[in-house]
Amino acid sequence: MLDAIADLRNLKRLVSFILLALIMALPACNLVRDFDFKRGARMTGGNPEVGRKKLAHYSCVSCHVIPGVPKGEGKSAQSLAHWSWRRTFLNTYKNTPENLEKWLQNPSHRKPGTTMPDLNISPQDSRDMAAYLFSIN
Ligand code: HEC
Repeated sequence: MLDAIADLRNLKRLVSFILLALIMALPACNLVRDFDFKRGARMTGGNPEVGRKKLAHYSCVSCHVIPGVPKGEGKSAQSLAHWSWRRTFLNTYKNTPENLEKWLQNPSHRKPGTTMPDLNISPQDSRDMAAYLFSIN
């Protein structure tokens, strides 16, 4: 009987230890960080750091919330926060780097009548901006 109680105590200690180890490991896990730049770069072949500058340069932030981009507080269009978790966008397109880049390059072509302006964005620029957006957790 006493042995059984001792075993139970050990088990409790072991479970607490495992829980504690898991909690301590969480911050090291990319999924709970705000950004995962390696993933953004890997998925798109673009450069997230350059993309961040371009998102500011093209004034995307004047209409969209974009975490991590200076002045990224635009309120006239959808927030782009947590982009990498989005499964679709514009309620239509599967959220893939390719679809996003096509949208950025030519919104009026992808959705006639849209109020998002055509900004004459090159394939390279759209790739870098997509790299940043797909880095946002
Ligand atoms: C003048 C305001 C404006 C600017 C500037 C602008 N957008 Fe948009 N954007 C919109 C609007 C409005 C929509 C919704 C379009 C629609 O539904 O037809 C949109 C839609 C989007 C979407 C899809 C969002 C979703 O949740 O489905 C993305 C991604 C996006 N914009 C990224 C960008 C990026 C990147 C830039 C800069 C290169 C940019 N936008 C510049 C107004 C803007």
